[in-house]
Amino acid sequence: MSVGALLRRRSEASESPSAPAWPAAALTDGRLSIEGRLVAGLELAPLNLELMAEAERDTTVDGLAALYDAVPGPFQLLSVPTLRDPAEHLAAIEPSVRGHGQRVFRPYTAAYREIAEGPRRPPRRTVLVLDSTSDAELRRTVDLVERVAEERGLGARPIDGEALAGLWSSIARPGATYRIGPALAEGPSFVIALNLGRRWPAEVAPAWLTGLLAVDGLAAVSMRCRPLSRAEAMTFMTTRLRVVRAGERLAAERGEVADVERERLGSTATSARRALAAGSGRIYFVDTVLLLEAPDRPTLQERLETIGLEARSLGAELEASTLRIGAAWASALPGARANPICERNLDSDSLAASLLHSASDLYEPLGHLYGRARTTGAPIVLDRFAHASHNAIVLGQTGTGKTMFTGAEMARCFMRGIRVLGVDPLGDYRRLTEAVGGTYVELGANGGLNPFTIGGATTEAAFAAKVAALARLVAAMAGGTSRDERPALDRALRATYAAAGIGPDPATHDRPAVTLADLVGQLGEVRGGQALAQRLERWATGSLAPIFGADASLPLDARFLVIGLSAIGDPEVRDVAQLAALGVLWDAVRADLAPKLVVVDEAWKVMRQSSGAEFVEELARSARHYHAGLQLATQDIAEFLRSDFGEAIVKQCDLRVLLGQTPEGVEAIGRYFDLTVAERRSLLHARPGEGLLFVGRSHVAFEARVSRREYEWLTTRPADLVGESQQRYDPPNSS
Ligand SMILES: Nc1ncnc2c1ncn2[C@@H]1O[C@H](COP(=O)(O)OP(=O)(O)OP(=O)(O)O)[C@@H](O)[C@H]1O
Ligand SMILES: [Mg+2]
Repeated sequence: MSVGALLRRRSEASESPSAPAWPAAALTDGRLSIEGRLVAGLELAPLNLELMAEAERDTTVDGLAALYDAVPGPFQLLSVPTLRDPAEHLAAIEPSVRGHGQRVFRPYTAAYREIAEGPRRPPRRTVLVLDSTSDAELRRTVDLVERVAEERGLGARPIDGEALAGLWSSIARPGATYRIGPALAEGPSFVIALNLGRRWPAEVAPAWLTGLLAVDGLAAVSMRCRPLSRAEAMTFMTTRLRVVRAGERLAAERGEVADVERERLGSTATSARRALAAGSGRIYFVDTVLLLEAPDRPTLQERLETIGLEARSLGAELEASTLRIGAAWASALPGARANPICERNLDSDSLAASLLHSASDLYEPLGHLYGRARTTGAPIVLDRFAHASHNAIVLGQTGTGKTMFTGAEMARCFMRGIRVLGVDPLGDYRRLTEAVGGTYVELGANGGLNPFTIGGATTEAAFAAKVAALARLVAAMAGGTSRDERPALDRALRATYAAAGIGPDPATHDRPAVTLADLVGQLGEVRGGQALAQRLERWATGSLAPIFGADASLPLDARFLVIGLSAIGDPEVRDVAQLAALGVLWDAVRADLAPKLVVVDEAWKVMRQSSGAEFVEELARSARHYHAGLQLATQDIAEFLRSDFGEAIVKQCDLRVLLGQTPEGVEAIGRYFDLTVAERRSLLHARPGEGLLFVGRSHVAFEARVSRREYEWLTTRPADLVGESQQRYDPPNSS
């Protein structure tokens, strides 16, 4: 049966004598009309005001007020829970899973389903509903709202007639029989209607309704907003002010003390009148109806008590729409209604602050799982390649789950067909790499790399970039270069390449590469290069030669390539090797525009060398241009943020993950990320994998979740690594 046919049938609810008829809805040519008026809707993107910095929050509320004020006539804000099929995300990514990606996908499916099907509060969506008898007028209004939303940086996306009809049906329940009694409606479920009319808090903070919306069983929340014309608003406010003044006079005559509530009313009425006279803002009559639903009476009673308490804690009073359940229910349906249930006047700012579309749901079905939101239990699914910057940074003290999180990210990116390139200073990613059939190159043991190979883009600029990168690397090897040595090094580098017939011309780039030993030879010959040559000796021909002397180049086109450094004993050498490895991987990144993930665990080690920090910042800044996402994990947070490029790097990361912290770390991070006291405390006591996830402007408390397989591939707990105890150990946080 088409949706249209479903909609044309009146709900059984209308058969009850006490209930008014459901308005007639019809879907014709993809347009929804209710009682003959055309209806349009724009879905408002969820906003997480609570989590915004103060200035940002103010701008957002101002923007929202401007958006509402731009709508020429009455409109309705309608919030409903949405159902999300766990299969949706899995079906969305399955086509991109190929080959060994299946090894990740199968256990991933189980882990995702467990979270998605687990008990949780359903996410909500909010639609701004408009109606008109004229199609042209309706379209104009929709365009206007969309434009103002865009100007103000708010998301408002028009939804089609089918989706609107679905919204209508989800509230009207065509086909279901409800018996409407004086206090509640009884049918397949129990429904009660509440209105938020008489008592509102004296002052409304932005997103003050969020607590109410979080109560289970809220089938619909509707705010019908009717703007008064300026003249009407002026009359309304003047009358109001007169009433307040009369009350004050009477109280004074009786010798009563000043009433705080009356004073407040007086001052708000005065300022509202002033604002109106100055032409800023509007006065709205707002009719707020909530439909609360439960599978049985006791649950309904419980929910009713919860929501009542919640409202009172916010300074508001909810009233049951006794004897008017049918009318209140009908009022929650999209489309125009003539008779309000219980109106209340609000100015533009208060209406904007009472937003229904506050949420913290992070769900981009084409991405992959990052974990579970701790407050709602909802899975967090993100697609980093859909964000302005694809970079991520993970900050946490030792043992808090940075490697687990990062490794799972590598596995999941690989699963989705994204290439993965990584530098692994401690050998933590070897098992993962082998399990997914990737290539693991262990520097100093089974392999070396030659930083002189010109990989990457075949352009003239590639040669200059290579020379600059080598100058940086050589400086790190030599423990820095002096002012005189730098030009000598540059000359020697070019001369070394020239001797092998390699120059800016891309045609020469794949000639057999030169080596560090060749450079040392050249340095010995150029003026001012001898001392540098000596310092490079041990890297070129001494004990460290195998690390940088490979004659075969790395398989840079591998779909999963990790360069391991754990066979290098000397930490200083390892830091330099990390920089060199990163340089080589960067060549691979620039070779094409396919999406790639580039992982640097223990990033603070590269950052310790100033040339390393500069390089990482450059990578973070330019990664986007090559469709690459950089993933950095680091522990020494205070030092990281203090370092020359630390802040600049964090700014380049759209995804920021804060895991468990030491008191000093919390101090540094708390200030930088503007965390509340509770958030700081949560980071101090976080278990491995627990923390805060920042995505662009919002953040949530989250718990990284890994599949059983991912856990096995990535755990660094010695107890897990000893075969037997691995059997006994049931990871606390995985599936
Ligand atoms: N998301 C998670 N779920 C379950 N257990 C986890 C999770 N994250 C971490 N753990 C546990 O904590 C251990 C340490 O985690 P991990 O190796 O990722 O820490 P780290 O932050 O990388 O530490 P370091 O800075 O020392 O490298 C893991 O071996 C695992 O047992
Ligand atoms: Mg680690």
